[in-house]
Amino acid sequence: MRQHVNPLSRNFNEIERIPSLIELFADSKLNLHLDIGCAAGEFLFDLAFVNTSWNYLGIEIRERLVKTAKLKVREREIKNLYFVFGNAINILNDDHSKFILENVKSISFNFPDPWFKKKHYKRRVIQPDFINIISNSLKTGSLIFIKTDVKDLFDYMDFTISNNLNFKNIDKKDFNYSKSFNPNKIKTNREKLVIDNKLDIFESIYIKI
Ligand SMILES: C[S@@+](CC[C@H](N)C(=O)[O-])C[C@H]1O[C@@H](n2cnc3c(N)ncnc32)[C@H](O)[C@@H]1O
Repeated sequence: MRQHVNPLSRNFNEIERIPSLIELFADSKLNLHLDIGCAAGEFLFDLAFVNTSWNYLGIEIRERLVKTAKLKVREREIKNLYFVFGNAINILNDDHSKFILENVKSISFNFPDPWFKKKHYKRRVIQPDFINIISNSLKTGSLIFIKTDVKDLFDYMDFTISNNLNFKNIDKKDFNYSKSFNPNKIKTNREKLVIDNKLDIFESIYIKI
């Protein structure tokens, strides 16, 4: 399985149309969480199974992973989970998908690709323009969660989000996880690997003000 695809490739200019919330979920009024770069979606399958009072949406750029995840959702008849294929930046920048950002309670970026070479930084999913797009549509009080094991990437993401005056950092110590999209602190696949390897995890939470 190819681990990396170039998100700037023209292959991703054409985007998947996301159906309305009523078509996506059995109960479209539930709180909605969006996970960007969800890979095969195991984290979201675990969350959707345990937290039936939330809806979950995953966006992933590797098409085969999304096809398999969509099939699994259908086979298991899961009604609070949906996957979308494509570059999250292009998808969420599209007028037809604006309703997603307008309706999410929270967004997570879990262990996004670091793209270590400076000339490839523009392939990183968190970009100032993308954070602007998010901040323009997100409702006040909505949250962004970031997590990575790469300190440089954390600093870059933290700088990019903190530079947007519509977001304020929340002290993790004051954060009540029980009411969040992940009350049981379920781990992503990458996170489990990082913990097994005893590496550091850098994380932050931001609120739209
Ligand atoms: C290192 S993996 C982490 C997967 C998962 N979040 C975890 O914590 O286990 C990063 C994922 O983000 C996806 N990705 C990278 N850039 C993306 C983009 N612009 N839009 C959507 N997905 C993207 C990659 O294909 C990959 O599956």
